[in-house]
Order: sequence, then C-alpha cells, then structure tokens
Amino acid sequence: MKTILCFLLGLLTIIVTFASASENHYHQFVVRTKSVKRLCKTRNILTVNGQFPGPTIVARDGDNMVIKVTNAGPYNISIHWHGFRMLRNPWADGPSYVTQWEWFDRDPMSLLRQTQFTGAPPNVSVAYTMNGQPGDLYRCSSQGTVRFQVYAGETILLRIINSGLNQELFFSIANHRMTVVGMDAAYTKPSNTRVLMIGPGQTINVLVTADQPPGRYYMAARAYQTAMNAAFDNTTTTAILEYKNRPFSRPILPVLPAFNDTATSTAFTSRIRGLSKIKVFQNFDVSLLFTVGLGLINCTNPNSPRCQGPNGTRFAASINNNSFVLPRTTSLMQAYYQGIWFLHCHIDSHLNWGLATALLVENGVGPSQSVIPPPPDLPQC
Ligand SMILES: *[C@@H]1O[C@H](CO)[C@@H](O)[C@H](O)[C@H]1NC(C)=O
Ligand SMILES: *[C@@H]1O[C@H](CO)[C@@H](O)[C@H](O)[C@H]1NC(C)=O
Ligand SMILES: *[C@@H]1O[C@H](CO)[C@@H](O)[C@H](O)[C@H]1NC(C)=O
Ligand SMILES: *[C@@H]1O[C@H](CO)[C@@H](O)[C@H](O)[C@H]1NC(C)=O
Ligand SMILES: *[C@@H]1O[C@H](CO)[C@@H](O)[C@H](O)[C@H]1NC(C)=O
Ligand SMILES: *[C@@H]1O[C@H](CO)[C@@H](O)[C@H](O)[C@H]1NC(C)=O
Ligand SMILES: *[C@@H]1O[C@H](CO)[C@@H](O)[C@H](O)[C@H]1NC(C)=O
Repeated sequence: MKTILCFLLGLLTIIVTFASASENHYHQFVVRTKSVKRLCKTRNILTVNGQFPGPTIVARDGDNMVIKVTNAGPYNISIHWHGFRMLRNPWADGPSYVTQWEWFDRDPMSLLRQTQFTGAPPNVSVAYTMNGQPGDLYRCSSQGTVRFQVYAGETILLRIINSGLNQELFFSIANHRMTVVGMDAAYTKPSNTRVLMIGPGQTINVLVTADQPPGRYYMAARAYQTAMNAAFDNTTTTAILEYKNRPFSRPILPVLPAFNDTATSTAFTSRIRGLSKIKVFQNFDVSLLFTVGLGLINCTNPNSPRCQGPNGTRFAASINNNSFVLPRTTSLMQAYYQGIWFLHCHIDSHLNWGLATALLVENGVGPSQSVIPPPPDLPQC
C-alpha cells in the first residue's frame, strides 16, 4: 500500500491509495465563497463544497475519478490536479492560476492584480495555517487550533503538504522525531529527522511514534527564507499532537531553525534517497541548457505607478532570457493540440514574473505515445 497527497488550487486534498482492482469514483465539487472567521476578522474565501481545507478524495492507484466541478464563485478559475500524471489525457489538468493558502488579510485576487500592475513583490501573508487554522500563537485563534489525538505508543502517518504560495517552510514536532517515508507520490528510503523543510506544492509523508511522556506537543511551521532583505511572513503556525488520557499540560513548543538556516535545510534535503537505485536514461537526442534568472527591469518612467519595484524598477524573472507570459485568448493546449510540459518555478510570485517555459511535446510513434483528442465538451477560450 502506498499513499499520495496532492493539492489542487491549494484548496483540495486528494489521497490516492495504490492497490490492484480498479474502481470508479464520482464526485461533485461546487466552488463557492464562504464566510470564515480567522484572526478576529470575517472574510469571504473560496472553498470547495464549503470546506476549508477542501474535501479529501480517497482512491486507489488505477481507479478512475469522474469529478464534476461547478464554479459558483466570483472568479474565473481552473482546478489543477497537482502531482497527477495525466498520461495521454492532459485536457483537464488545468494549470492556470493558483490561489491562496497562506492567510492574507486581503482578497488574494487583488494581491495578484496589484503585483502584476506594480511590478513589485506581492504583500506578504499575515499568517500560515495548519488544516486551515493559524493556531495558538495568533490572536483570536486558540479556539480553532487543530488537534491530532494519539495513543501512547502508537505510530501515525502524517501527510504534509505545503500549499502556501510563496514560502518554503520548516516543520517540526516538539520532542518527536519523524521518519520520512515518501515525497511527491514516491516512496523514499526511511530517513529520520527532527525538522523538515517543505517547498510550495511539495508533499512529504512522515511516520511519527508517540514515544514521549503522555502530554501535549506543538507541531509548528515557520518560514525558511533565503532572499536577503526581502520581506517575509515571520509568524509561526501550530497544531497540537495530543496524547489521549494525558495529564493536563501546556503544549511544548519545538525549537525551529533560524529563518536563514540553509545548513539545516540542505542537510534535510540531501539525505533523501529513493527506495532503489534509479537508472537514469543516458542516450538522448537533444540536450537543453536552461539559465534561470530573477532580476529588475529599469522603467522608462520610474515614477509611474507601474514601477514600484526597488529604485524605479519592476521585478522580472526569465528562463534563457525570456520571461514567460501566459496567453490570454487561447490556451496552449488548444493552440497546439499536443502535449505541453509547463516547466515553472513553484514560488508563485516568481511564476507571475515569468519564471516558466512551455515545452511542446510532439506525439511519438503509435497510440501509446500520442495525446488522445480533446473531449467534445472541452471549454473553448
Ligand atoms: C470570466 O471569463 C469570461 C469569458 O472569458 C469573461 O467574459 C468574464 O468577464 C470573466 N469574469 C471574470 C470575473 O473575470
Ligand atoms: C499591500 O500592502 C500595502 C501596504 O500595507 C497596502 O497599501 C495595499 O493595499 C496592500 N495590497 C493589497 C492588494 O491588499
Ligand atoms: C518578525 O518581524 C517583526 C517586524 O518586522 C519583528 O518585530 C519581530 O520580532 C519578528 N519576529 C520574529 C520571530 O523574528
Ligand atoms: C542568519 O541571520 C543571522 C541574523 O538573524 C545572521 O547573524 C547570520 O549571519 C545569518 N546567516 C546566514 C548564513 O546568512
Ligand atoms: C538600470 O539602471 C541602473 C541605475 O540607473 C543602471 O546602473 C543600469 O545600467 C541600468 N540597466 C540597464 C539594463 O539599462
Ligand atoms: C537602490 O538604490 C540604493 C541607493 O543607490 C542602493 O543602495 C540599493 O542597493 C539599490 N537597490 C537595489 C535593489 O538595486
Ligand atoms: C536578453 O533579452 C534582452 C531583451 O530582448 C536583450 O536586449 C538582451 O541582449 C538579451 N541578453 C542576452 C544575454 O541574450
């Protein structure tokens, strides 16, 4: 058995469990706004079926899922099946814009519009959340703090997703070690750690054994930030790992690494290994070299409201000196009717500054190497 967690649009959680016989699953998603109270204020946020975080889908490897999505929200959106390989049938994969998970005190669409207009970095969030709740360390948030209950001696599987937009995070559980067993839909060689670093869109599965004196222990996450002098959200989100039948106690906080602790981040990522040796394909026809850049463009009119980056500039990112601009009228799939590999930075603001490229993948030999035709109901732009 194997379990994967993915996120869609930062709103949904999908769990796929691998086994043999295939089944069909039918789901109906209604995307709509819902009023939610966090950090002492009530806001309308986009939800799936009124849930925040969104619904969990449980399926096995090889199962078919038929998901009917109705958009009853105020924005044009697409649902993106992050982490799923849609072999030969990418028509409903829908990568477009991603929406919020970090908690902004503002409407996230206006943040996006503002950053596209001004050329400046987006405003930073005011809180991170765990399963939709900021946790005890924020104002007006104690009531909602998420609790995970365990029996002493029990081993639990935690599926951790960073569904934030722009921030890499450190995550730790007070006094407990974690054993990493999977990442991004693949098993890993078990690796023991006190802290993990997880990037936007990444998923990590860990086992945790409740082997400490019965009590309450915070799980906490906060920023891992490497860009010097760039503003970032330096708050800490928490949930509580709570032993059943414990004596009353205040939860213990884990010590998280310093925001700029690259040594800890690198030590964690460099220990990740596949279950078995991976054979890397050695014979290739084309060798591509990518140079990735993030920089500043001098504005012709530095006093323009469209020029609010540092010192009369706009931020721009590029791959091989080209900044990617999403088409506005026709989707790439529609324009080319072939596979598209959208290679992009997973820091959302970098993507919006152009850090992406689209590889058009031609059909190969025979049906198994060809994209199937689009469904008749594929929405036209
Ligand atoms: C959504 O897209 C349609 C069709 O392109 C457009 O007419 C409409 O103005 C858009 N709505 C919003 C809220 O952007
Ligand atoms: C971003 O922050 C600035 C300064 O606090 C504020 O004036 C602006 O309205 C914010 N942008 C959005 C879209 O909320
Ligand atoms: C977070 O930043 C604020 C203001 O920039 C600062 O006052 C505060 O001490 C910082 N908190 C942490 C935990 O670094
Ligand atoms: C990390 O930040 C601290 C100050 O908060 C600074 O003293 C230290 O030099 C920084 N380390 C690195 C590797 O940048
Ligand atoms: C942008 O402006 C800076 C400061 O005025 C200048 O040093 C730099 O050469 C300019 N860059 C380009 C590409 O014009
Ligand atoms: C902006 O200009 C100031 C003063 O010339 C300089 O110290 C600073 O490094 C510049 N910032 C950037 C991002 O170029
Ligand atoms: C990058 O693109 C700009 C704008 O097209 C061009 O002026 C510049 O020469 C290019 N630089 C390189 C290294 O190709």
